[in-house]
Amino acid sequence: MAFIDTIYARAKADKKTIVLPESMDKRTFAAAEKILKEGIANLIIIGTPEEIAENSKGYDITGATIVDPFNDPNKQKYIDKFVELRAKKGVTPEMAKEQMEKDYMYYACLMCKCGDADGAVSGACHSTGNTIRPALQLLKTKPGISSVSGFFLMEVPNCELGENGLFVFADCAVNPDLDSEKLAEVAALSADSFKSFVGAEPKVAMLSFSSYGSAKHERVTMVADAVKIANEKYPDIAVDGELQLDAALVPEVAALKAPNSKVAGKANTLVFPSLEAGNIGYKLVQRLAKAGAYGPVLQGLSMPVNDLSRGCFAEDIVGVVAMTAVQAQDAAK
Ligand code: ACO
Repeated sequence: MAFIDTIYARAKADKKTIVLPESMDKRTFAAAEKILKEGIANLIIIGTPEEIAENSKGYDITGATIVDPFNDPNKQKYIDKFVELRAKKGVTPEMAKEQMEKDYMYYACLMCKCGDADGAVSGACHSTGNTIRPALQLLKTKPGISSVSGFFLMEVPNCELGENGLFVFADCAVNPDLDSEKLAEVAALSADSFKSFVGAEPKVAMLSFSSYGSAKHERVTMVADAVKIANEKYPDIAVDGELQLDAALVPEVAALKAPNSKVAGKANTLVFPSLEAGNIGYKLVQRLAKAGAYGPVLQGLSMPVNDLSRGCFAEDIVGVVAMTAVQAQDAAK
């Protein structure tokens, strides 16, 4: 079964409520029709009657709950919650109302925070920064987590490496400023994500341009330090490095460059040393190996909120909604 079909099956088995704030985009409604028809999730769509009527033409969204952000009986509850969460940052009720009406992603995050939705998906017509900032401000990280990061579940066709071609790549989406502590945390979160989505034991390679000290540079030391921190803090997770990509993936190269490693030559979870490397790396594999790239999926948030590529198709929205629903199932456990 293809990776995404396993996710659809899991989402359907315990339906969660996902909120879609991008009623200004027709792809939202094309995706909503499929999600509702196939029973992947319950949906809330935020939009005015005009936005909904204009953009849902031709799509059957019977069963979706529509919330008009200008005329919602629950609105005061969300304004109060916004102020409660952000009063220290100077947010007043007037500012909260204005922000929620201007940017529906704030509305969506407040619905999650108040327990009226289990997760949110946006980004078909908003940048990554604008999509995730409301979640970072209002939902915050899980207890004990300092930074949210973003992974891609990569499905490489005809590939025997990783878990039969399945990999988690991180951080590909969020943190422009990584250090050893944050990298170690990305390793632990990515291991959890791999286990949850693939159902196999994660083997985490911390990537660099050096293997086991073959090069000396402060950027190599940063990764090697992250490995030490990860091994101390998360002894149950198989994390190793620093490793070059070939040593991480290919058994013959691992035998030469990192013999006796519990990860080298069999890594399925790749932690990149910078956002540049992660972002470029996943796009290389997606474009050159024609791999499926599901994400960016955020990890470390207190509730699941996920981003879409602005070039996404309706089918991609369906996939990200299903992954968000699975994260919501995990969060409820
Ligand atoms: N984890 C947890 N909280 C965070 C994180 C994080 N990684 N980053 C910022 N925050 C919190 C801050 O602490 C702050 O909280 P506060 O308001 O309660 O004090 C809040 O989020 C806003 O922080 P700022 O630093 O003001 O946030 P800013 O808006 O400048 O940046 C953002 C945050 C959006 C994540 C930024 O780092 C960013 O743009 N990252 C790159 C995103 C990107 O463009 N990725 C590549 C494209 S994605 C793709 O190709 C798939």
